[in-house]
Amino acid sequence: MSDIIVDPRKTNYDIRHQKVGTKELTRFERIHTEIFIGSREGSAAVAEEIAELIQSKERQGQQCILGLATGSSPIHVYAELVRMHKEEGLSFRNVVTFNLDEYYPMDPKGAQSYVRFMDEHLFSHVDILKENIHIPDGMLSPQEVQKFCVDYELKIKALGGLDLQILGIGRTGHIGFNEPGSHRNSITRPITLDHITISDAAKDFNGVDAVPRKAITMGVSTILKARRVILMAWGTHKADIVRQMLEGEITSSVPATYLQLHANATVVVDEAAAFHLKRQKTPWLVGPCIWTEDLKKKAIVWLCQKVNKPILKLTNRDYNSHGMSGLLAEEGSSYELNIRMFNRMQHTITGWPGGKPGADDTFRPERAEPAKKRVLVFSPHPDDDVISMGGTLLRLVEQGHEVHVAYQTSGNIAVADHDALRFAEVAADLLSFGNSKNTRHQLFLVQVIDQLKNKGESNENLSGSLKIKSLIRRGEAKAAARFCGVLDEQIHFLDLPFYETGKVKKKPIGEEDLQRVYNLIEKVKPHQIYAAGDLADPHGTHKVCLDIIMSALARLRNKTFMKECYVWLYRGAWHEWPINEIDMAVPLSPDELRKKRKAIFFHQSQKDEVMFQGSDEREFWQRAEERNRETASLYDGLGLPEYEAFEAFKRYYF
Ligand code: F6R
Repeated sequence: MSDIIVDPRKTNYDIRHQKVGTKELTRFERIHTEIFIGSREGSAAVAEEIAELIQSKERQGQQCILGLATGSSPIHVYAELVRMHKEEGLSFRNVVTFNLDEYYPMDPKGAQSYVRFMDEHLFSHVDILKENIHIPDGMLSPQEVQKFCVDYELKIKALGGLDLQILGIGRTGHIGFNEPGSHRNSITRPITLDHITISDAAKDFNGVDAVPRKAITMGVSTILKARRVILMAWGTHKADIVRQMLEGEITSSVPATYLQLHANATVVVDEAAAFHLKRQKTPWLVGPCIWTEDLKKKAIVWLCQKVNKPILKLTNRDYNSHGMSGLLAEEGSSYELNIRMFNRMQHTITGWPGGKPGADDTFRPERAEPAKKRVLVFSPHPDDDVISMGGTLLRLVEQGHEVHVAYQTSGNIAVADHDALRFAEVAADLLSFGNSKNTRHQLFLVQVIDQLKNKGESNENLSGSLKIKSLIRRGEAKAAARFCGVLDEQIHFLDLPFYETGKVKKKPIGEEDLQRVYNLIEKVKPHQIYAAGDLADPHGTHKVCLDIIMSALARLRNKTFMKECYVWLYRGAWHEWPINEIDMAVPLSPDELRKKRKAIFFHQSQKDEVMFQGSDEREFWQRAEERNRETASLYDGLGLPEYEAFEAFKRYYF
């Protein structure tokens, strides 16, 4: 891989961590790291390096021995390799692969098996020889496992070792399934999975109880012996563990830190996963900076929190003693700078998210005119609108704008079977109560009830139960939107096809997905679009829904009505915009916050025991309220007005 960092702004810091003589320390990472704007760009670079290695081995008449990983991190790499095979003739005939791990026990035909994963994402699409594929066997008896593991090691050794190992990183810091506590000298072996890994895997197994407690994994030493190692991490949810791996001491509690011992390892991350790295978070502490206005704002917000002072009380000394003397030299003194930054932050606050009619809007986030705007709110799942911007939605309606809400996906897989059964039984009772002659409907309901009752442990969602689950979420979304004052004819259900697999794994985006979003925007001709700009999970539904909107916007860019359209991004249930990135902060009074909570309560199927809880055990309304209150307290800490809560938005320029 060439040492290119896609974003040229970052090349300032492109010197490896070193403490040689008086040389400037410009990076804090202890493993060579490349940051890309997104996971696609990073994955393309990794795929390119793999392809070059395969081809150079082929030219030398040698086999290429690859160590492969599963999970969401390498998915785009495999997709790119498949593309290269199909379009550019990249051959895998000289490739031998060893996968890192497999759940234990696991039937290779099982939906969650890594055999199936590799087949679906890579092997069945390329010309690799079946006999060259090695994946730990999840079907062995406990007596056979030990010998299998030793043989796995010997096979790798006999082939001359791994030329390249690719890795992801778990939130526990595992590489392969080497969980915290793994020894540096460990080899291929059975291991007990950490409870965090089990809870992260729950979404693939439709619940935590079905996740195997054990796995077979290559060891740390097996991985470290590879001649080249590339670890990939994408998304905000990896940012904390990525920082520990790159900036922390080597420790068995974060096994990925062992990669600091490898002479030829590279960590490839996107900006979201790099978020907590010192060179990203506090570049002024790392080396000389180009002080853009946005970087100044970021630095000052950080400084306020560091010295626990509001903006207007920051002194020259505060700046000088926190790595910002360069900024001070550029600005002359802190006085003017403080006032300018204070004003910038203050101008983000508005109780008029659709613009304040008749007011001077020079420094307001939204235009005063037209006084009545057409607003289109996109909600990836049926509850994101009220969770993330319920208060703003209420205000937009109250302030007389024409508010449309578009639910992008049905969200059906997040409804529990017992809820679907309850509704199916009510519907069936209603039909018989009404003495309905429609036997087709009755038959359908009898079948669904039967399927749901006799499902046992199966994860499968049959089409009848999926239909009912979609309708449950549709009903909840309608009730919540109505409660916020949105008119029935302005509530739109897009049911985007990419989502409709009945499983966590979705289809790729298709033309129909794009068309549905495009057509609605063209029909509404909005002055404002709100969308979920949530990048916590780069392969998750929110990111896909955002990609679809972005593609539709790119196609619509030249339409006259689009020139008048502002796009505002809110964040989903999981996290908020960093305070320095907020372009519009809408305050909520205690009463408005209560009303928002009520709107969220309409989503009853998502209360108490949610199917996809993630690592945060709080309910959605609790997360939303705590997040909104936290934003208000951060504003307060900067010396800005003290509110109960804020909903935050970032403007997207397209
Ligand atoms: C997969 C593996 C794991 C994953 C890690 C990250 O074969 O060994 O270490 O790489 O759990 O998983 P994702 O990529 O799904 O975030």
